[in-house]
Amino acid sequence: MTCFPFSFGKKVRYVEKHDPDIDEELSGIQNVRIFTYKELRAASDNFSPSNKIGQGGFGSVYKGLLKDGSVAAIKVLSAESSQGVKEFMTEINVISEIQHENLVKLYGCCVEGNQRILVYNYLENNSLAQTLLGSGHSNIFFNWKTRSKICIGIARGLAYLHEEARPHIVHRDIKASNILLDRDLTPKISDFGLAKLIPSYMTHVSTRVAGTIGYLAPEYAIRGQLTRKADIYSFGVLLVEIVTGRCHTNTRLPIGEQFLLETTWELYQQRELVGLVDVSLDGHFDAEEACRFLKVGLLCTQDTSKLRPQMSFVVKMLTGEMDIDESKITKPGMISDFMDLKIREGKGVDTDTKASSSYNASSASDSQSNTMSYAASTSTATTSTFTAKYDQTL
Ligand SMILES: Nc1ncnc2c1ncn2[C@@H]1O[C@H](COP(=O)(O)OP(=O)(O)OP(=O)(O)O)[C@@H](O)[C@H]1O
Ligand SMILES: [Mg+2]
Repeated sequence: MTCFPFSFGKKVRYVEKHDPDIDEELSGIQNVRIFTYKELRAASDNFSPSNKIGQGGFGSVYKGLLKDGSVAAIKVLSAESSQGVKEFMTEINVISEIQHENLVKLYGCCVEGNQRILVYNYLENNSLAQTLLGSGHSNIFFNWKTRSKICIGIARGLAYLHEEARPHIVHRDIKASNILLDRDLTPKISDFGLAKLIPSYMTHVSTRVAGTIGYLAPEYAIRGQLTRKADIYSFGVLLVEIVTGRCHTNTRLPIGEQFLLETTWELYQQRELVGLVDVSLDGHFDAEEACRFLKVGLLCTQDTSKLRPQMSFVVKMLTGEMDIDESKITKPGMISDFMDLKIREGKGVDTDTKASSSYNASSASDSQSNTMSYAASTSTATTSTFTAKYDQTL
């Protein structure tokens, strides 16, 4: 079959190799652009290391030049997935339907043999983890206006996933490395909906969940209840990170200051939140707005998930269209508290479960590391299992 030129807007499928099974699976899929492996190999110069732009839990990401001249980020999923093509494609189908200014655009995918590859539009300014929270190699200066725009943009993208997309999408992995920035520093949420694509036994699921412990809502971590409220918790952590320019955990700091949320709560009680705003702004910021953002961060991270506002309200609070009800702000649910509790271990998988994930609690960590540390609470590394129940009802 000939490959048609890449063109947006049209729903074109092209599969070069004929695998009858895959062809049959793909026949019901209408909305996804299917790339051939050959085409993506050519686009990335045979997946050359010089084109490699990142490595995540899912696999390697390459920059590639597509035939029509567009630049793409090509994510090659690691480990061989036994997941059926149909399930993979159904998820991709949902994601590919979604378009929003604050979500990364999925161009399409490649399914050939055991290969599972996702193709996104390429974003020039990397992720917030590297540019804002990274170890100082970025030459981007995030002034207050930019940070405010980024926070509101992420909130809008998440509100869209939670409240407008049908079916609603729980992201499951909101964190700084999944927020990419385009040329104008407009934030784009990436990896939405993809957690469901990864089979539970694959090791990178554990890496992935371990890497995001600092963003995990207590009820998700402890009871495996995954709802939109868990995303809202993660967003709250991210919001505080963006305002402060600090990572959620820094084990190099003295005990008592290691957890950003804990510090935020302390300063809130002392009415000193303004002291937490990133010092690199050198005082050039809107103090009222910055403190409002931090309070919204506290609201989003409330231990009781019902107290966390839905994302469309979060957007309004950030933009100042809605007042914050400070009577609802109590001590946020925190990792340090969570570690005092015994985590449910391998109790079997609920039938609704889309992912049963194990995570590792590693004692090796630093402020910029992807691996969250339990060192402050436990002296030895622990591995526990919990079931992640997918529930869109809350
Ligand atoms: N669309 C894109 N445009 C530009 N760079 C990208 C794009 N997608 C991913 N990257 C780069 O590749 C890196 C790895 O992305 P990936 O999503 O695989 O892992 P991660 O988000 O760092 O970790 P995790 O797998 O735990 O989500 C990103 O941090 C980013 O630097
Ligand atoms: Mg990612």
